[in-house]
Amino acid sequence: MNNRRNISLTVNGETVARDVPVRLNLVDFLRAELGFTGTHVGCEHGVCGACTVRLDGTPVRGCLMLAVQADGATVETVEGLGGETTVAALQDAFVAHNALQCGYCTPGFLITALDYLERDGTADRSAIRTGISGNYCRCTGYQAIVDAIAAVAAERGQGGTT
Ligand code: FES
Ligand code: FES
Repeated sequence: MNNRRNISLTVNGETVARDVPVRLNLVDFLRAELGFTGTHVGCEHGVCGACTVRLDGTPVRGCLMLAVQADGATVETVEGLGGETTVAALQDAFVAHNALQCGYCTPGFLITALDYLERDGTADRSAIRTGISGNYCRCTGYQAIVDAIAAVAAERGQGGTT
């Protein structure tokens, strides 16, 4: 039985084609095969959110998907989102509010926060906590992360209680 497949997908704006093992996770494919190491690996079973990437515009767990399942899709890692105004605003806000310490969780949080804001998420702290509840941070205690996202929501005119 052939345990490899040819896949073709768009990653950060570039079309890539590879012959991959059918059991290769998407996050391992992105990191080891393509060198996009901004996507991190934490728990490897769908809990921590460190491996979050966008698949056809929707955040997914890179550790819970196989690379072959992304065949034909458009994938964006944190490296591919640098040109987005909201991502730049989030990066600035994370720095301004000290919303990272070791930074291991940060790429996943940026992608999740971007999705939250693009879905018209408000500056309401409770709503932000719900929005980021799929991402774990072992350093910050989350307050500063919520502060940073609330600041960008307010800047974008997406109101709510801060
Ligand atoms: S490494 Fe994927 S959710 Fe933790
Ligand atoms: S800053 Fe260290 S895990 Fe979040």
